[in-house]
Formats: sequence, structure tokens, C-alpha cells
Amino acid sequence: MKFFLDTADLDEIREAASWGVLSGVTTNPSLYARIGGKLADFPAHIQQICALVTGPISAEATGEGRADLIAQGRDLAKLAPNVVVKVPTTVEGLAATRVLADEGINVNMTLCFSVPQALLAARAGARYISPFVGRFDDISEDGIAALTDVVGALENYDFGHPVEIIAASLRSANHVTQAALIGADIATVPFGVLKKLVAHPLTDRGLKAFEADWQKVIDAQ
Ligand code: E4P
Repeated sequence: MKFFLDTADLDEIREAASWGVLSGVTTNPSLYARIGGKLADFPAHIQQICALVTGPISAEATGEGRADLIAQGRDLAKLAPNVVVKVPTTVEGLAATRVLADEGINVNMTLCFSVPQALLAARAGARYISPFVGRFDDISEDGIAALTDVVGALENYDFGHPVEIIAASLRSANHVTQAALIGADIATVPFGVLKKLVAHPLTDRGLKAFEADWQKVIDAQ
């Protein structure tokens, strides 16, 4: 499983990249708004992220019609070679994805909640598909079960181009564990969740014990 960071925060991206585990970044309008991003600065901000991480960087195209999504997608793709255009899983999104994919632009179809949506996204040429987990949990449904269905269904077919599943809307280390057991290709996680992934109480306890014993070794000299 590859780890993407689900953020628009440059400091978080720099820090996670320094850990040597970061394969990409996903952003969305909410994440950009959360860091106080300004519309005029958005292209430069995406370029800064693309310079920090060599892997795929998802930037979302907004707008209701395919013409808007296509035009924005083309503009976003010009920002850096590693930009992936994020497009919603809707009729207009599918049509835009087909056009962008045929132009060689990588698309991440987002807001995917079902097997049929994922199959259609793959057929439209999406390079990445993002089933959301946490938002099912928000409405007391089983997000991991939905992700399991999507991963299992897509494994049945060859779409004639690479398709990777990004487990998205992940809220906990347990979500990441379950996504890995299912075989999702990528987990995109907020920085807070990434920090939780590396932490374990027994690691901390083991470290303290080693330090105490090493001190005994030093004291005995
Ligand atoms: C990533 O591509 C998604 O936009 C993100 O994971 C959504 O997460 P949320 O449901 O916490 O907003």
C-alpha cells in the first residue's frame, strides 16, 4: 500500500515527505479553504506541492458541466507533470474524464461510493478511483464494507490501462489497517492519521525500557 497525504498544508507535506514514506498528495477545495487559501494563489500552491513530492498530486476541478471540468482539467494538468486532475463521479465527470484521459491527462475520480460508480470511472479512463470510507461511517453505514466491494469488483476486470484505488476519507489507523487487508492500492490520510500510524504504546514502552537499561550499562562503567 502506498501512502498519500490528504492535505493542502505545505508544512504537513514537507514533514511527511521527510519521513520517506510519502508517495503522493490529494487535495480538495475544503482542504484548501482550511489553510486559508486564496483562489488567485491556487495554481501556484499546487505547483509548490508538486515540487515537494515527486508522486501524483491530485488537484480538483470544480464546476457542474463537462466543458468546465475539461477546461479546468487541462489548465491544472499544465501546472506540473505530476498533477492528477480530480473529477467527481457524475455523468459530467465521466464525460470529462474520457476526454482528459484520451489527451493523456491522469484523472482521479472522486466522491465514489459504489461498485457501479467505480466500474464506470475505470471505463471512462480514470487512472485513480477514490472510494470514500469515512463519509459512510458518518451516516452510520459501513464504509469499509463499501470499499471491500469496490476493490473486489475491480479486481475482476482488465480495463486496458492501469487503475489504482485510493482509499479516501480515512479517519483512523483502523481504517488504514482494514484498507490494507482488503488490498487497496493507496491510502490517502490526513496528517493527524499518518502520525497515529507510526505510534504504538508498546514501541514507546520498549524504548523507555531500552533507555533505562542502557543507562544501567553506562552507570556500571
Ligand atoms: C481525498 O481525495 C478526499 O477528498 C478526502 O479523503 C475526503 O475526506 P473527508 O471525507 O474527510 O472530507
